Amino acid sequence: MASLPLMNMLVITVMLLVLPIPATAQSRTNITLGSSLVANAATSTWLSPSAEFAFGFQPTAGGGYLLAIWFHKIPEKTIIWSANRDNPAPEGSTVRLAANGRLQLSDPSGRQFWAADPAAAYAALLDTGNLVLFSAASENLWQSFDQPTDTLVPSQILNQGGQLISSFSDKNYSRGRFFFAMQSDGNLVGYTRNFPMNDGIKAYLATMTVGDGFRYIFNASGYLNLVARNGTLLRNIFSNTGASTAQFYQRLTLDYDGVLRRYLYPKSNSSGGRPAAWSVFEFSPSNICTAVTQDTGGGVCGLNSLCSLGTDQRPRCTCPWGYSAIDPNYWATACKRDFLPQTCDHDQDHFGFNDMPDADWPLSDYAHFTQVSEDWCRQDCLADCFCDVAIYRNTDCWKKRVPLSNGKIDSGVQGKALIKVRTRNSTVVSPSFGRSGKRNRDAFIIAGAVLLGTSVFLNILLLVSKLLFNSRRTWSRVEEGEGNKRSVYPGVNIRCFSFKELEEATNGFSEQLGNGAYSTVYKGALIDEDGKMVAVKKLSRMVDDAEKEFRAEVSSISKTNHKNLVQLLGYCDEGQNRLLVYEFMSNGSLATFLFENSPKPNWYTRVQIAFAVARGLCYLHEECSTQIIHCDIKPQNVLLDDAHTAKISDFGLAKLMRADQTRTTTGIRGTRGYVAPEWFRNMPITVKVDVYSYGIMLLELVCCRKNFDPDVEDQRRQILSDWAYDCCCDGAVEEMLVEEEMRDDDIKRFEKMVRIAMWCVQEDPELRPQMKRVVHMLEGSAEVPPPPDPASFVC
Ligand SMILES: *[C@@H]1O[C@H](CO)[C@@H](O)[C@H](O)[C@H]1NC(C)=O
Ligand SMILES: *[C@@H]1O[C@H](CO)[C@@H](O)[C@H](O)[C@H]1NC(C)=O
Ligand SMILES: *[C@@H]1O[C@H](CO)[C@@H](O)[C@H](O)[C@H]1NC(C)=O
Ligand SMILES: *[C@@H]1O[C@H](CO)[C@@H](O)[C@H](O)[C@H]1NC(C)=O
Repeated sequence: MASLPLMNMLVITVMLLVLPIPATAQSRTNITLGSSLVANAATSTWLSPSAEFAFGFQPTAGGGYLLAIWFHKIPEKTIIWSANRDNPAPEGSTVRLAANGRLQLSDPSGRQFWAADPAAAYAALLDTGNLVLFSAASENLWQSFDQPTDTLVPSQILNQGGQLISSFSDKNYSRGRFFFAMQSDGNLVGYTRNFPMNDGIKAYLATMTVGDGFRYIFNASGYLNLVARNGTLLRNIFSNTGASTAQFYQRLTLDYDGVLRRYLYPKSNSSGGRPAAWSVFEFSPSNICTAVTQDTGGGVCGLNSLCSLGTDQRPRCTCPWGYSAIDPNYWATACKRDFLPQTCDHDQDHFGFNDMPDADWPLSDYAHFTQVSEDWCRQDCLADCFCDVAIYRNTDCWKKRVPLSNGKIDSGVQGKALIKVRTRNSTVVSPSFGRSGKRNRDAFIIAGAVLLGTSVFLNILLLVSKLLFNSRRTWSRVEEGEGNKRSVYPGVNIRCFSFKELEEATNGFSEQLGNGAYSTVYKGALIDEDGKMVAVKKLSRMVDDAEKEFRAEVSSISKTNHKNLVQLLGYCDEGQNRLLVYEFMSNGSLATFLFENSPKPNWYTRVQIAFAVARGLCYLHEECSTQIIHCDIKPQNVLLDDAHTAKISDFGLAKLMRADQTRTTTGIRGTRGYVAPEWFRNMPITVKVDVYSYGIMLLELVCCRKNFDPDVEDQRRQILSDWAYDCCCDGAVEEMLVEEEMRDDDIKRFEKMVRIAMWCVQEDPELRPQMKRVVHMLEGSAEVPPPPDPASFVC
């Protein structure tokens, strides 16, 4: 059985068959008794007659030397066997074929720490890469082929009881986390190893040849054959066999990532001038990430980590958002939480979710609900302080706790992982506001109390209302006593601030967050709301008749409520001063995040942002009581909160800023940037101008660069939208990939997003899809046909 405990097998049966190597095929150069080699920089070696293989010491990355056999004629000196993989030998160690016929490895002080024991008469490294100790009668007494490490080479046999154990990493040859065993029951099985112990945890690959299988032969013509005891061929382990051993060096290696790979290396250097390299000819399993699900341990990657297949078909381990690698240098590192976990003390408001599509940790769940909505799943996990991650798929919701195991990202997984992260630390009263804040508030209350008793209060209120409205409106909706906190705009349920309050909140408008032609944004903290951080936008200049507009706009903005829009908390309209108070977005603008961050934000985050902005825009266009055209979609106007959720800012100000828009210049070399062509063509301005801007931004998001980048050498590629169209036509969208390694599904998604962007940037507004359709295309519920040439529109 595949799951047979391996320990038993190892202990009970070690039936290494020692077969004489056919002497005819081999020439040998004898290594005589008393010969020795020393581990040092000027490494001497014992060569096979053809010099294709060498035996001796190889330095390791961590210092020390491996007593090893390697391919000698290729520059990489690829090791196929080593005697002391777990104990690198110190410099100055010696290997000696002693007078008593034993092959011994000793450190400089003479302490022996490895030996091959037969009383040999001489030794030889054969042209197959096999080191053999011979008797005087030339009988094979011991051979390295019987003690494989992680590699088989042609003419090597894995007998019953034999196994390959993967290395720990590509640089560390110590025994790692996978092994492959030719079991005594006849089955050839790949296991995850109960590292650092030797027993297997769970099989992930098996030939299912119980009772039949006998030995696994990498035969001299390069075929990998599983044969029965009577020598009949049971099967080729890889279907694709027969790469010639005359043309290629070959090896079969159980790599550190648990994948059994067959590598080829051209013997003649005729690969068109390119330096030769080992290339993977075939491998198994096809997706190690989904093949391995083990009951204990982390899985292919470490605990809390996620495994996904790169374009090179090798697994990559990544940490979810909010988590980071414990050992960034180890390929399969576990991930640790970067935030304080939930306390079960009513702090759920401080948490939110990062969504990761197609991600799952299939074990580790402690609760499972069926027939529920995604929203229900979110709320339930949020309210549950034990819940660290929820998986939502179809109508199922699983709740999971850290440490999470067997994490994988794969399109076959479907559904999504909702990863709980802390979005807010418990107290954020900044010291500069804290103390004076309390005093001011008290003073205000006292003043209010005094005023309340006098008719002066009424007069002041009347005066204020006059200033604000300059109209006949009554302020009957304003509730007395709380007037200062409630809005005085009809139907507007947000706070109205006095200029003085905002001056205090921003510490005299001291810390600037951003700056546009018509407004400046300052950082602030609301003293009377526990120091809650806010962004205060001071509008400096507006077109005439702006007062009425301001009121109308504030009224329409205040009615919006969507998780991908920056929330308006209040406003101030006092004399010449018009200010808007927004929620504070701690991670700044998308422009900074996208173009200035190093390392560049990862693909998943960028995809999340593209979705978020599309949803926010769709809401503005289609779901608000009054349709809002943003008119200025660009990365500077998309902000990121603590959890990197993207939110659109500056919406609803279009009418106030109209002058700004029409004056936008066309920029350099004919790139219009984010501004739709309608603005220059005296055409009606519709929601489609936002779709255009979104399209440009979407390209920038997926390609992680600016639409116009004069630093790009290839002129053809300087304007991203032009280049993208060329690539779309030529079916060469992959040229635009930013990520070095991307899974096939992600490449597909990338191509789709480029096509969607091309639809959005059509010069003909009629051809551009509505934002709703864009969202559907992104989500995959609507097809994305090949886009026409954006510039084909003749006005
Ligand atoms: C190696 O030693 C064996 C046994 O002494 C001998 O028969 C053989 O000819 C030797 N080979 C070479 C190449 O010296
Ligand atoms: C190689 O990996 C083993 C197993 O984890 C570890 O004990 C050893 O220190 C590593 N060696 C180096 C040089 O990093
Ligand atoms: C290797 O195996 C294949 C069949 O799998 C066979 O055709 C070939 O003759 C074998 N080569 C040698 C050298 O045994
Ligand atoms: C919370 O506080 C910790 C420690 O001060 C800090 O490292 C972390 O970034 C903060 N998290 C958020 C979301 O503000």
